Amino acid sequence: MAPRAISQHAEHQVNAIRQALLRWYDPHRRGLPWRKARDPYRIWISEVMLQQTRALTVIPYYEKFLNRFPDVQTLAAADESNLLACWSGLGYYSRARNLRKAARMIVRDHGGCFPRDLQAALELPGVGDYTARAVLSIAYAIPFPVLDGNVARVLSRLYARRADLRSTSGKRKLLNMAESLLSRRRPGDFNQALMELGATVCAPRQPQCSVCPLRKYCKAYSRDQMDRYPPTHSKVSTKLRSFLAVHIRDGQGKCLLARRPPEENWMGGFWELPMWELDNKETNTRARHNRKDGIILREFLGRLRHRITTNQIEVAFYQGYLARPPISPQEKWVSLDQIERMPITTITRKVLSYGPKLFR
Ligand code: ADE
Repeated sequence: MAPRAISQHAEHQVNAIRQALLRWYDPHRRGLPWRKARDPYRIWISEVMLQQTRALTVIPYYEKFLNRFPDVQTLAAADESNLLACWSGLGYYSRARNLRKAARMIVRDHGGCFPRDLQAALELPGVGDYTARAVLSIAYAIPFPVLDGNVARVLSRLYARRADLRSTSGKRKLLNMAESLLSRRRPGDFNQALMELGATVCAPRQPQCSVCPLRKYCKAYSRDQMDRYPPTHSKVSTKLRSFLAVHIRDGQGKCLLARRPPEENWMGGFWELPMWELDNKETNTRARHNRKDGIILREFLGRLRHRITTNQIEVAFYQGYLARPPISPQEKWVSLDQIERMPITTITRKVLSYGPKLFR
């Protein structure tokens, strides 16, 4: 073939892939709540929540957040404790704090509208390259391709390129692929279609190739080498850590909570049951006889596991009592009703949902 014919062929192929993807997306897309409207504020909130969290997990938090903060002005004026209470359970709390900072900038510098300009969007706290491109393409139909783990996997398989999203050169290759495929007419839908295909069909393990709209164009599929793409990494090793948490009630059935120092990296400023870490040698049985900060353990209630990035945390929780009457300003007796409106750490929420037994 002459060079011109090759490029015509390539262009034809790219068009076919783009059309097949959008034709699949329209009837198959999940009815996720941020897809109902093109309100840039709502899309921005969803993209920030989706940065580290799966779509199905995000839904209830998204709905609660938008009920509480329906527009950028309300968010800009939010009080921190309310904001964190609303985010409680989603993790990576700097995201919530950055949202409020960015909301204030949007109100002050952009007339209350998420900026359309990429550079201006990137200046907002918590808005990186991915989020800026996602919001601008979805909310304003500006033709920016986006790359996340799902998109990278689809592209890497489609073109059988072992490009790694975590390396600069891999990212550049993937962005070029995404750019050349992007629909200029429907960039937001196109980006979401790639994400959707990666999330629901082109799964990391056992992809559902039989229902994939891109199967006939997919080089990895044609070579039966889906698991070669994208390249995988050896797992980062996990650190095991053990904690004790204590449920203490006063005469009126209120429960003792302590506030984590605000400057703490992990959930600073959140409230939790009194808890402490055990060193490696301490077994929970031995710790049972321990007292700490005037807290004495009584009945063992249960054990749970919780993962924070590379830490695998095991928490043994006990009923206990306080052997020192006055409590410090960083401690509070609270009723179940009050707890529901406070920013509570995820571990404490898990312990408290252990059952009505704790509040009988
Ligand atoms: N992950 C990131 N953004 C998303 C979106 N708009 N829809 C589904 N999953 C996503």
